[in-house]
Amino acid sequence: MRKLLVIGIGAGNPDHMTVQAISGLNQADVLFIPDKGAKKNELADLRRQICDRFVANPKSRRVEFEVPVRDLPIEDGPAPSYRSTVDDWHEAIASIYEDLIGDEIAGDGCGAFLIWGDPSLYDSALRILERVRLRGNVAFELEVIPGITAIQALAASHKMALNRIGDSVLITTGRRLTQEGLADNAGSTIVLLDGKCAFNTLEDKDAVIHWGAYLGTPDEILISGRLGDVGAEIERTREEARRKKGWIMDTYLLRKPSEQD
Ligand SMILES: C[S@@+](CC[C@H](N)C(=O)[O-])C[C@H]1O[C@@H](n2cnc3c(N)ncnc32)[C@H](O)[C@@H]1O
Repeated sequence: MRKLLVIGIGAGNPDHMTVQAISGLNQADVLFIPDKGAKKNELADLRRQICDRFVANPKSRRVEFEVPVRDLPIEDGPAPSYRSTVDDWHEAIASIYEDLIGDEIAGDGCGAFLIWGDPSLYDSALRILERVRLRGNVAFELEVIPGITAIQALAASHKMALNRIGDSVLITTGRRLTQEGLADNAGSTIVLLDGKCAFNTLEDKDAVIHWGAYLGTPDEILISGRLGDVGAEIERTREEARRKKGWIMDTYLLRKPSEQD
């Protein structure tokens, strides 16, 4: 049966690659590299660099594939609803994965998907592969290899623990932070996937933010402080960096003032 490895490659620094991830890469006959469009070329480049540096298996091939662009969710445009938009998008990607697996991997061969950060965190590859499996057109055995997430990279760069002693940590998105505000029962809130500086919608300007962009890369930017003091600076810095590079990835941790160490 075909074997599929879903490998977490870390969040931007090739040194994030674990020994397990490197041996997974070298086990695969085919390495699948997503292309998410010209603006995010640097992300595909990082995957190529990782292959150049760590793949010693002379028989392995790289197959690049285009990832379809998702329709805008409802708050950004006239798409029907966020969930159905995502569903259509996943269905389109499932068809691509199905073809890649069926056409590019031999019946007893091994293929690897290189996943940014870790496959368990805001990544749909595992859900989409489950769709492919349920369609029943290609059979495969799956192995998941964990990677360093953007959250770990953020904590390491800010030299901080994610949780206060005995306290809980909430992981959420910019969209939900805007809708729900800071949860009362979370000592620390970590926000990913925020294209709109949702922290600036919070009423509590005494909350503290630890923000990081391009974590783990030579372009890393870090800003920390009281939201009321640094919120505007983060927004300005983020916009300048996004304009200069054409894309940005940022993550942050928020704490209410009473919950500071
Ligand atoms: C689709 S999620 C994927 C997360 C990934 N699976 C992980 O484990 O980190 C993409 C979001 O992760 C965060 N992210 C990923 N890499 C990052 C980096 N190097 N610096 C800052 N944020 C990053 C950003 O919030 C970005 O919007």
